[in-house]
Amino acid sequence: MAKSPHILKTKVGIIGGGPAGLMLSHLLAKTGIENIVVEMRDHETIRNTHRAGILEAQAVSMLTDSGVDSRVLTDGDEHAGIDLRFNGESHPLDFRELVDATVTLYAQNEVFVDLSAARQRDQGDVRYGCEVTEILDMDTSTPKFRFTDAQGNQFEVHADVIVGADGSRSFARRQMPQTLCQDFKVTYPFAWFGILTEAPKSAPELIYANSPHGFALISQRSENVQRMYFQCDPNEDVNAWSDDRIWAELQQRVDGPDNFQLKTGPIFDKTVLGFRSFVREPLSHGRMFLIGDAGHTVPPTGAKGLNLAFADVKVLFEALDSFFSTGSDKLLEGYSDLALKRVWKAQNFSYWMTSMLHTPVGGDPFMAKRALGELETVTSSRFGQQYLAESYTGWPHA
Ligand code: PHB
Repeated sequence: MAKSPHILKTKVGIIGGGPAGLMLSHLLAKTGIENIVVEMRDHETIRNTHRAGILEAQAVSMLTDSGVDSRVLTDGDEHAGIDLRFNGESHPLDFRELVDATVTLYAQNEVFVDLSAARQRDQGDVRYGCEVTEILDMDTSTPKFRFTDAQGNQFEVHADVIVGADGSRSFARRQMPQTLCQDFKVTYPFAWFGILTEAPKSAPELIYANSPHGFALISQRSENVQRMYFQCDPNEDVNAWSDDRIWAELQQRVDGPDNFQLKTGPIFDKTVLGFRSFVREPLSHGRMFLIGDAGHTVPPTGAKGLNLAFADVKVLFEALDSFFSTGSDKLLEGYSDLALKRVWKAQNFSYWMTSMLHTPVGGDPFMAKRALGELETVTSSRFGQQYLAESYTGWPHA
C-alpha cells in the first residue's frame, strides 16, 4: 500500500519559487502570515535562466522598502531614458525630463538571488526540486496540493489559500475548471536571438532599433558584460550562428549615416526566446489565485514581465493581509478584476512596442512603412514621447 503523504499545514501555499512567488512569500512572512513555497526547478537552474532586466521604480521600492536587499541600488544601473532608432537615426527619449521617472537595469536573475537569500535569511520555508502533482478542493475554504520532493517523499499542503506562481506553463492554471475561464492569446511569427557578450557598453542607454533587417535591442548587464537581442525565426538554430555572423547581423540593424558602431567581444551565451501575449481570465478560482506569468505573459519588448508580476503580488498581498486580519474576503474577490486592469494596459503596451519595432515576416511593405510612420509620430511629439515614457516607466500601483 502507498504510504500516506506527510501533511504540512500553513496559511498560504505558494506553487512556484520564481521572483513572484518569493516576493509574495517575503511580504506575507513579514506580516506574520505563514506560508510555504514549493518550486519544481532547482536553485541553480533558476539562477542561470536569463530574463529581462528592466525594473520600474515601484519594483525597486518593493525590494528595498520591504527589506529584501538594497543591492539593486548599488549594483543596478539607473536609466533615465531609451533610444528609439529607426531609418538609421537615433531618437533619444529622456524619461526624467518627460515624466520625471527612471527605470533600473538589474537582471531578473539577481532579483531571484536577492529574494531567495532573503527567504533563507528569514528562515522561510522554500523547497526547490519539488513537483506538484495535484491540487484539491480549491473551491472550498480548505484547499490542498500534493507534491513530491527530490528524494521522492510525498507531501500534502493544507492551506487557507493557494497561489499559482509557477510561470507561463503553469500547472496551477491548468487545474482550474476550463469551462469557467477564458484564455486570450496572440502568437508572433518571430522570436528573439539573445546573446551575452564580454564587451564594453556600446551606448549609455538601451537602444530599441527598427531596421529593414528586423528589430534589435542593445541592452546591458554591467561595465563589461552586455545583453543584446535580434529578431529571428522562432525555429532558428543557435549553432548556425558564429560570433562573426551575430555581430554582422546586429551591426546591420543599427547601421546609419551617423556611422554608429557596436562594441564587440566574445559571445558566451546564445538562446532563442520565443514569445507570445497571453491572458487567463479570471485570475482566480475559489481559493486559488494566479500571479505573474502563470496568469499572463507579455512579449519582452516593453520590459513589463517582472514588473507586472510584482504589481500582482502587491494587489494580492494586500487582499491576503486584509483576509487574514479581518476574515473578510472582499479584497480577495476583487483581486482578479483589479490585477487585470494593469495586465491589459501592459498587454497593450507590449503589443504596441512589438508591432512598432519588429519587421513583419513575409514583408508586407505597407505594414513596415506604417510602423515607421508610427515611430515618427511618437518621437516627433512631446505627447507621444510622454505616452511611451509613462508606460515604460510604469503606471502607479493600484
Ligand atoms: C534585457 O536587458 O534583457 C532587456 C531589456 C529591455 C527589454 C527586454 C530585455 O525590453
